[in-house]
Amino acid sequence: MNLRIPGPTAVPPEVLQAGAAEMINHRGPEFAAMIKRTTEGVKTVYQTQNDVATLTASGTGAMEAAVVNLMAPGEPVLVITIGEFGDRFVKLVDAYGGRLTEQSYQPGQAADLNRIEDALKANPDIKLVFITHNETSTGVTNPILPELGKLVHRYEGTLVVDAISSLSSVPVKTDEWDLDVVLSGSQKGWMTAPGLAFVSVNQRAWEKIGKNPQPRFYFDLKRHTDSAATGQTPWTPAVSVWYQLDKAIEMMLAEGLENIFARHARAGQMVREGVRALGLELLADEGVESNTVTAIKVPEGVDGGKWLNVARDEFDTVFAGGQGSLRGKIVRFGHLGYMTDADLQDGLQALKASLDRVRQ
Ligand SMILES: Cc1ncc(COP(=O)(O)O)c(C=O)c1O
Repeated sequence: MNLRIPGPTAVPPEVLQAGAAEMINHRGPEFAAMIKRTTEGVKTVYQTQNDVATLTASGTGAMEAAVVNLMAPGEPVLVITIGEFGDRFVKLVDAYGGRLTEQSYQPGQAADLNRIEDALKANPDIKLVFITHNETSTGVTNPILPELGKLVHRYEGTLVVDAISSLSSVPVKTDEWDLDVVLSGSQKGWMTAPGLAFVSVNQRAWEKIGKNPQPRFYFDLKRHTDSAATGQTPWTPAVSVWYQLDKAIEMMLAEGLENIFARHARAGQMVREGVRALGLELLADEGVESNTVTAIKVPEGVDGGKWLNVARDEFDTVFAGGQGSLRGKIVRFGHLGYMTDADLQDGLQALKASLDRVRQ
């Protein structure tokens, strides 16, 4: 089966095999050696010297960790949302009693640095900002990250970036761009099963966390990084997924970050060109299309749900549909992590063949 969804992504056979190893004591020397290796590897991929916690959780767990560690109850915050995953920050901030200023954009649009500055100017008490780097629900990558950290810092704020579906596939220069807290998840470009999530924390963010009275326990980031320094996790980790991550990082470092980024850039271009050649339109505005997922508008008169089902049942290819208000309106084609050009060409053929079939 050709799994062309934007996560969970295909896992290489070597990684699958690594995950089948027998259990070990997670408080023993083998796990200590592994957590040391993976933490160093994750930091290399994050392009950071900051602390990085590896949590046994899905990506949403990393988002919740960011909220409970950084946001005080009643604290005013700015959430910039360009789709469903930005909206998830809105819901999390709401659940934990933050005072929300929401800046949202139309599906397919990227966030605008000037509008964000206007919001910070208009709300000088906001010291915490959340943004999604790559909005998996619309196939848009926000291009403003290199400047956004500096902007938020000029207003004495701390920036949290959800890079769950971008980091490890496209460049995220955590230190060079001075990003305070950055999130990612194992089931995306990391070529690993779902179950682990990453949170990087710089000095500015640690200081904010240190002053935050919000209660926290499972996702207390300080507990996680303190434990990791002793070769452990505070709670029982997903050992099998960790074995996979260890192997996947070895493969990623052997490939080299620049080669991985180039492969994803090529994949994005190949899929976009293939989709346009079929006469289909993209949801993303020109110039901000994601290199990990392409959102394709369902043409007039076509049943989007049927298109997905026919692709799966008759052409052995699984695409993702739209979420929320985009349900039935888009088809999403994932191109991240472990993939070959042939997988993508097969995906494009299946897209065409299933569309032809639905239109008959
Ligand atoms: C950008 C983004 N943020 C957050 C999430 C949520 O992650 P999870 O489904 O692993 O909880 C996802 C997963 O699809 C995502 O793509």
